Formats: sequence, C-alpha cells, structure tokens
Amino acid sequence: MAARQGGGAHGCPALPLANGRSIPVLGLGTSHQGGYSHDAVVYALQKCGIHHIDTAKRYGCESLLQKAIKDSGVKREDLWITTKLWHSDYGYENTKKACLESCRRLGVEYLDLYLIHWPDAHVSGKSNREVRAETWRAMEELYEKGLCRSIGVSNFLISHLEQLEEDCVVIPHVNQVEYHPFQRPQELVDYCRSKNIVFEGYCPLAKGEALTHPTIIQLAKKYGRTPAQICIRWSIQNGVVTIPKSTRAERIQENCKVFDFTIAEDDVEILNGMHDGRHVSWDPGLIV
Ligand SMILES: NC(=O)c1ccc[n+]([C@@H]2O[C@H](COP(=O)([O-])OP(=O)(O)OC[C@H]3O[C@@H](n4cnc5c(N)ncnc54)[C@H](OP(=O)(O)O)[C@@H]3O)[C@@H](O)[C@H]2O)c1
Repeated sequence: MAARQGGGAHGCPALPLANGRSIPVLGLGTSHQGGYSHDAVVYALQKCGIHHIDTAKRYGCESLLQKAIKDSGVKREDLWITTKLWHSDYGYENTKKACLESCRRLGVEYLDLYLIHWPDAHVSGKSNREVRAETWRAMEELYEKGLCRSIGVSNFLISHLEQLEEDCVVIPHVNQVEYHPFQRPQELVDYCRSKNIVFEGYCPLAKGEALTHPTIIQLAKKYGRTPAQICIRWSIQNGVVTIPKSTRAERIQENCKVFDFTIAEDDVEILNGMHDGRHVSWDPGLIV
C-alpha cells in the first residue's frame, strides 16, 4: 500500500483509503482505561504535530477531547478524528442518533472515520448479522450525507467482513483490530488488503507488555531507540495505521519519533515471528 506524505507528526505519511481520502498512519489513542490527560492531548496536537485522534463513545472522553482540541488551536480541517459506535446504539435509527451525539460531544460537524466498535450486537431475537447489516445501512447513509467522511468497523474477522459484504453496498474503508508483536493476524491483514480495506492496529505496545520482552529490548539497543519506538515503527513499516496511547507528554513525544529510522528487513522478520496469538484487549474469535 503506497503511503502519501501529509498528516502531521513530523513526517508522518498518510495511507490512501478506497474513497480517495487519506488517513495519517500514526494517531493518538484515548481510552477509559489508564486515564485521560488533557495536557497530554494538547501537547500531542500542539507540539508533536499529531493530527489524528482515536476515540470512542465507550471511552467517555469525547467531550473532554472537544476542550483539548479547542485549547490546542489546531483547525478542524487539519485533524483526523475517529470515533466508534457502541453496541448499545446498534440498529438503524439508534446509529444515526448516536453519530450526531458523538459529533455534539466532540464539538465537530463531521467525523473523519466512524467505526462499528465490536461485532457482537447483544440484541435478543435478532442475529448479530442482521443487526450489523441494519447498523451498517445507517453508517452508509451517514457517509452519503457527509456526516462521516469515511466509515469502517473494528474487531471484525474475515467471516464478519464476508457477511457484511453480502449484506451491504459500501465496503468498510477501515478495519481497526488488535495488532502488536504478539498479535499479528496476517490472514486478516491480507484479506483486508485484498478488499481495499485499510488495516488499522490498536494496542501497538500490547498495553505495555511488549516493552519488557528481551527481543524488543535487544532491538531497541541495536537501533538506539526505545522499545515503544521499535513496536510503533515495526507496525508502521508493516503498513498498519498505528494508534499508541499515553497520558504522558514525554512518552507521546517519544512515540512520535518513528519517522527518522528504518528497521532492517531481517529484524522486521524477527518481530513478525513473535506472534503467539495472545490478546491484551478483547478477542472477537467467538462472535458469530
Ligand atoms: N477498537 C478497539 O476495540 C480498541 C481496543 C483497545 C484500544 N483501542 C485504541 O487503541 C489505543 C491504544 O491502545 P491501548 O492504550 O490499549 O494500548 P497501547 O497503546 O499498546 O499501550 C498503552 C500503555 O502503554 C503505556 N505507554 C505508552 N507509551 C509508552 C512508552 N513510550 N513507554 C512506556 N510505556 C508507554 C501507557 O501508559 P501511560 O499512559 O502511563 O504512558 C499505557 O499503559 C487506545 O487508546 C484506543 O484508542 C481500540
């Protein structure tokens, strides 16, 4: 997948989506886990040139981000904002309402990317497939109206994507899935690419677990970098949109400094070989 220049973060390239838009390959994660720091988000936007923010209704910080974006002084058109639809809002009408509410909390008129957060719908009397299809029809409408400039899914496996393709019109632009050295779902990555779906990886540091692994520490020493930079650079070199989260300004700065070195192919292979199938977030493997 060819990268284009642009998207902030000191040389951060952007990856083209099927709809002609481009997503910055490095973004800042936010979450309800591990806390939220207003100062860190403002620092990321103002000082690190990070212009891509990943959030979700579930994380409970959309309103806080509105304030951070305002305080940063970065213009809306220079930002890429992703948020996600939580399963309590699945279904045709609820989805449209939830999108408007997320926009209101974020203080924006449109989203750059809106994702269905999780393939399980938790609706009694209806199959997950039925609810995902209804929900996606609303997502398509939000896309056609321009309220969402791109639409996608998260934690979808090949089976979920195959069903969605049969049931719907617009193929998701993005699939956001757990991706780090211990969790590299290559078959899913290849499938997404064959369908022109950009693969976005979350938990690039395996929530910190990868940073103490001896192989990663050894590679960090070899390249004169930190373990976090090795994980982030590896993910980006594999063509994956990467969204590390930190609540500390100095770590955000560290996590952004990944565009001035390259991991040699042999070392990428070593990191690729670390996959052991472990999940540090949730595992959609049992969701039909
Ligand atoms: N779609 C989904 O279902 C889903 C699921 C999970 C996550 N996500 C997204 O992915 C983002 C990232 O995932 P994540 O936060 O779970 O995991 P992560 O980015 O792999 O790891 C975050 C953890 O690593 C620490 N950390 C960050 N930079 C560091 C550094 N340079 N050195 C040492 N420690 C560092 C952070 O602590 P400090 O804050 O103390 O620095 C935090 O504990 C989330 O914020 C969210 O946007 C999506």
